[in-house]
Amino acid sequence: MKKTLIVAALLAVAGLAQAQQRTAFEPGQVWPDNHGTHLNAHGAGVLYDRGHYYLFGEHKIAGGRGNSAQVGVHCYSSKDLYNWTDEGIALAVAPAESGSEIEQGSIIERPKVVFNKKTGKYVMWFHLELKGKGYSAARTAVAVSNKATGPYVYVKSYRPGAGRWPLGCAPEWKQPVPGEKDLKWWTPEWRKAVAEGLFIRRDFEPGQMARDMTVFVDDDDKAYNIHSSEDNLTLHVAELTPDYQGFTGRWNTIAPAGHNEAPAICKRNGKYYLITSGCTGWDPNAARSFVASTIWGPWQQLDNPATGPQANVTYNSQSTYLLPVAGKKDAFIFMADRWTPKNPIDGGYVWLPLRFEGDQPRLQWADRWNLSVFDATNAQGAANP
Ligand code: DGJ
Repeated sequence: MKKTLIVAALLAVAGLAQAQQRTAFEPGQVWPDNHGTHLNAHGAGVLYDRGHYYLFGEHKIAGGRGNSAQVGVHCYSSKDLYNWTDEGIALAVAPAESGSEIEQGSIIERPKVVFNKKTGKYVMWFHLELKGKGYSAARTAVAVSNKATGPYVYVKSYRPGAGRWPLGCAPEWKQPVPGEKDLKWWTPEWRKAVAEGLFIRRDFEPGQMARDMTVFVDDDDKAYNIHSSEDNLTLHVAELTPDYQGFTGRWNTIAPAGHNEAPAICKRNGKYYLITSGCTGWDPNAARSFVASTIWGPWQQLDNPATGPQANVTYNSQSTYLLPVAGKKDAFIFMADRWTPKNPIDGGYVWLPLRFEGDQPRLQWADRWNLSVFDATNAQGAANP
């Protein structure tokens, strides 16, 4: 009995040691944390803070309720991006029936954390849907903490842009067009009307819808919340207040009527790059890419960044974040989710190096790769170490 226990303990220690020894990314494979448990951080983003990376994502559970928030936002830390230590639940759901906007059973998606230098606070934004209301609330919400790993305290949720027109608003967008409410969805006339402010007018007073989202801090420390709005037809970029906890009211549209979600952004050589997906629920589709010289646009649509087999379904994944690798110039990792809606906890992660051909972001599948692909001598693509 004693011997069995000792052997079990040794095996456990060996298992932990093994779990700590990852030296490469293996897109789509099970990704064990320091306990040997598959990472549970979906729709994730990464914060880099004082030598540590912090991964924040949706904690999913098994089975039918697994895509609603039953637990909260999970945090992991890492020094090398391959090996992740479980830091627990950074933002916990409120108890069921507590009446809180983030009560158990609400929907909390795509959490992104940024650090605010002025206040010294860590600020988490996420897409929030109120319990029992499907995806109709379409709100973006904020929580704050004094520590990267949390606990985060819920602040409030928003419909951004209430009572404010976008910066690029044409005067005629402000006026309803006779018969516009009767236009049949998905017809060319309806798409044109959407691109010319149909839904912006509809949501002008309550504020604009905000679903899939990300947050971006620019070199001047100004921060922006980029979200799918207008029933997912148009992306909006909205400036955050200096404390990153609210909106200044300055906002603009991106790709009007383009039907984009899953926005992920990076900045390289003074230009802004966006990767998005189309809108097909939990099913993958072809990614899109955009470039702009200012965050307010105009945004120029480029090609599907993915190349090779499965490029039309982004290697069976959907974008969530473009991660700048600390200490390596112009090195970004494309982070994406493989959703498994029947058993959400099984969802996988596709991380690939992002390359650029001129302005065009490019992705290429690799079964296994490491950060050396970003070194000058190795810059041509993914290695298979
Ligand atoms: C796709 C989105 O990108 C996900 O975050 C999630 O909202 C699902 N749609 C829900 O169907």
